[in-house]
Amino acid sequence: MSNAPATQPVSAIQKLLLDWYDKNARDLPWRQTRDPYRVLVSEVMLQQTQVDRVLPYYERWLGRFPDVRALADAPTAEAIRAWAGLGYNRRAVNLQRTARHVVSELGGTFPSTVEELQRLPGIGPYTAGAIACFAFEQDVAFLDTNIRRVIHRLRFGPELPQPLATEKQLRDVAEELVPAGQGWRWGQAIMEFGALHCTARKPLCVVCPLQAECRAFPTIQSLIATRAERTDDNPPFEQTSRYFRGRLLAELRDAHPDRGIPLASLGPRIRPDFTEDHLPWLRGLVHGLARDGLALVAEAAPPYDDGAGEVVRLP
Ligand code: ADE
Repeated sequence: MSNAPATQPVSAIQKLLLDWYDKNARDLPWRQTRDPYRVLVSEVMLQQTQVDRVLPYYERWLGRFPDVRALADAPTAEAIRAWAGLGYNRRAVNLQRTARHVVSELGGTFPSTVEELQRLPGIGPYTAGAIACFAFEQDVAFLDTNIRRVIHRLRFGPELPQPLATEKQLRDVAEELVPAGQGWRWGQAIMEFGALHCTARKPLCVVCPLQAECRAFPTIQSLIATRAERTDDNPPFEQTSRYFRGRLLAELRDAHPDRGIPLASLGPRIRPDFTEDHLPWLRGLVHGLARDGLALVAEAAPPYDDGAGEVVRLP
C-alpha cells in the first residue's frame, strides 16, 4: 500500500493549479490570439523546441506567412528556409501540407472539432486537441510530454525509473481534470506548470502548491538524483543522423534554387572524413530527407552509374 495521499478532489487540484497559473504565467504571443492558423504555427514550433528559441521564429514566420493562404501559396523551399535553425525540419513541410489542405479543400477555414482537426494531414492527436482548446476554447484534454509528466506525478506517482500509468489511464485523468468552461485556461496552466515548475529534471517540489495532492512528492526528488546517466544511449549530437540531416539541409538551402548539388559532392561538405565508402550512408540520409518532403532527388546525366550521379535540391 502506498502512503501517498488518496486521490484528492479534482476541484482542489483545479483551483490550486489555476491560481498558480494566474501568478506565474508568461506573456506569450500565442496566448493573445484565437486564430487557429497562429495557434497551429505555435504548437508545431513548440513541439520539440523551447519557448525562448521559438519566440523569434514565430514572429518572423508570421511576418512572412501571415495567414494560411500565404503559407499555402509559398514555395516549399521558402518554408524550409524560414524554418532554418529551429530543427526537426519536416515540421515545416508538414505545416505547409496542412495549410495547403485547409486552403484547397476547406476554403481556408479550419475545422473546430478534435475529430475533424485530426483528419487534417500533418495533424496528430496532440495538435488537434491543442487547436480545439487554444483556438476554439473547447473543454478538451490532450497530452504532450509536459502534461503527461504532471498528471503522472500527481495521480500515479514518480514516472521514474519507468512510467506506471498507461496512455489510456493518463488520458482518462487528463479528461477528468479539465474544468468545465475553462478549458483554455486549464490547458495553458497545466502546460506552463510542466514547463516551469514540475519539470523533468528539477521539479520545484519544495515550493509546490500541489504538494499535498501529489503522489510523487517527496520521492521524485531522490529518484531524479539517483538516476543513472545513460551515456551509452546518448552519442554526441555530432554523430547523430539528425545532425547530418541538418548539415545536408543547410547545404541545400545555400545552393542555387534550380540547380541543386550532386550527391557525391555533398558528402565532403557535411563530413571532412567522407570517402566513397560513405556513399550508401549518404544516399540513405538524402532519400530520408526526400521521403520527408525536404529534398528532391533527380538523376544526373551519365557517366555516373553508381547512383552518385543523383542531384539533390530543395523541393
Ligand atoms: N508548449 C506547447 N504549447 C504551449 C503553450 N501554449 N504555451 C507554452 N508552452 C507550450
